[in-house]
Amino acid sequence: MSETSRVILVTGATGGIGSAVCARLAQAGNSLILAARDIAKLQAACARLKGPGEQSFRWISVDMSSDASVLSFSRELAAKGTVLDGVVLMPPQMRPTEECQPPPDTWRQLFQSHFIGPLELLKSAISIMQPEPSQGRRAKIVIISAITSVQALGNYATSNVLRCAWLAQAKTLAFALGERGIHVNTLSLGGTLTPDYVASIGQRATRAGMTFDERVATETSNIPLRKYGSPDEVALAVEVLLSPFSDHITGVNLLHDGGFTRAY
Ligand SMILES: NC(=O)c1ccc[n+]([C@@H]2O[C@H](COP(=O)([O-])OP(=O)(O)OC[C@H]3O[C@@H](n4cnc5c(N)ncnc54)[C@H](OP(=O)(O)O)[C@@H]3O)[C@@H](O)[C@H]2O)c1
Repeated sequence: MSETSRVILVTGATGGIGSAVCARLAQAGNSLILAARDIAKLQAACARLKGPGEQSFRWISVDMSSDASVLSFSRELAAKGTVLDGVVLMPPQMRPTEECQPPPDTWRQLFQSHFIGPLELLKSAISIMQPEPSQGRRAKIVIISAITSVQALGNYATSNVLRCAWLAQAKTLAFALGERGIHVNTLSLGGTLTPDYVASIGQRATRAGMTFDERVATETSNIPLRKYGSPDEVALAVEVLLSPFSDHITGVNLLHDGGFTRAY
């Protein structure tokens, strides 16, 4: 199949990063299946997408925190006879918390919505991939993660744990699926200027009696590139990881953080 006729599933497709990813992949000629919970937002997102060719944009609603919803999503995906060439998996955004010893029920709920549910969805997506490496047809999975995958942050206590779990899962899948021509890489984001993140910076600026730009300069003073990322930069990195650029790359965790992470 040519580069311009691939079918890519994007979860979290209506969010700040998902919207930019979908717009870029659509412009590059891919057919897309958008997934998230809110049907009205999915419909609006599909309607906004523009591409150069005859590719299709459709959506399937899913709540990744619910086994029943993921099962129904998987059935709908399989029923349409779709063959997937790529997946951009975004486990839902994790809230900041300094609570590093939450009660068992909190852990169960977090693992369900941020790990088990998204992983079940990914399994169903993998089951409808038909890569043929001998004919140059590879399938690519990009898991959107965060820098807590490699660096513990005090205010993201539960994210530290779950992002590490995803890194291990991605590496394990990369080993297991490589022979079939299925690549699994993660993209770990630092602060990215989505509308929600911009709003939260604005609130911090107001509380600190600063302008928005002053606050950004303060917050990014420990980032070598002295800036936050943009959703468009993330979208470009995703497109590249889905492209032939990664034909000999799998099991990698690419940091998209302006150099913030200090570890080698
Ligand atoms: N923005 C940043 O600075 C930043 C930094 C590091 C990592 N990240 C990671 O990047 C990813 C995307 O972040 P974002 O800023 O774009 O988030 P966002 O704007 O909050 O978007 C989240 C997306 O996920 C969907 N979603 C939320 N809960 C869901 C659920 N239970 N089941 C299915 N879909 C669900 C949302 O749609 P519905 O609500 O309709 O379901 C929406 O499409 C997340 O994994 C986040 O942790 C972001």
